Amino acid sequence: MIALKTFHEELNAFLEKFDDLARRYNHTIANCSELERIIDDYSNFITSESNNKTWEQLSLQEFIDFNQLTSDLREKSAHCVAIMEKYRALNLLDGNEGVSDYFKNIESCIEKEFGSFQVNSESKVLLIGSGSFPMTPLLIAKQTGAEVVGIDIDDEAIKLGLKVVEKLGSGLNIKLEKTLVDDLNFVKGATHIIFSSTVERKYEILDELHTLTNENVVVAMRYGNQLKSLFNYPMKKVNEQKWKMVENILRPDHVFDIALYKKV
Ligand SMILES: C[S@@+](CC[C@H](N)C(=O)[O-])C[C@H]1O[C@@H](n2cnc3c(N)ncnc32)[C@H](O)[C@@H]1O
Repeated sequence: MIALKTFHEELNAFLEKFDDLARRYNHTIANCSELERIIDDYSNFITSESNNKTWEQLSLQEFIDFNQLTSDLREKSAHCVAIMEKYRALNLLDGNEGVSDYFKNIESCIEKEFGSFQVNSESKVLLIGSGSFPMTPLLIAKQTGAEVVGIDIDDEAIKLGLKVVEKLGSGLNIKLEKTLVDDLNFVKGATHIIFSSTVERKYEILDELHTLTNENVVVAMRYGNQLKSLFNYPMKKVNEQKWKMVENILRPDHVFDIALYKKV
């Protein structure tokens, strides 16, 4: 019981720190290392085996309601990860780049993204939620030569992202746009689509994509269930007339897992 109480207190402490750091973001790198530290601690927390066991115990205790805390933490941590990408972009553009554990974790994850549906130089890849530091487009375009388009709803993320791509990916076939899938011609010819895990509406957008995409498209949905749902939007049921899951890539040591969908 004491372990559960500590667990609950730790989660509340993360929530307070995320809240505080998000409020202090002022479009400069002022609180960068503090935020990086807490995101690294949080990544370790949600990939810890012992915390996973505690989480399983908790889900059996009906009298403790974690739903509100889980959804608050998910929303706040997603916001803070987006801010951390802004810091990373600002740092790079200022000439001092540092790669925190969180980014190493994400980057090593990208290589396995499409399981048996590999990207090649002919592929057209769309990333939904490209962020201020578009690692996925950079990595895919560099490793495969594919054409990559990233979209985001955040103006600042697109502006910073474009500068990062200009600096790190000159000569690569990468475009970033602030747009929605319905207004993007590229969607029709896309061979591979990736959803960032922290896009709240990702399953609604997947549903909309059914009519907008071609029949061979493969979708990589980054997600996190159970303990990982503290940091990621979880997997949801899909309309079985439209999409079927063809692979579920579980990665215990990584912050998110990946479900691959194809059209029925
Ligand atoms: C943490 S970041 C990007 C992830 C990372 N750059 C990567 O390569 O995986 C997630 C981004 O998703 C964006 N986002 C959230 N909801 C979205 C939506 N409905 N459509 C497009 N982008 C969205 C946020 O603005 C944020 O910049």
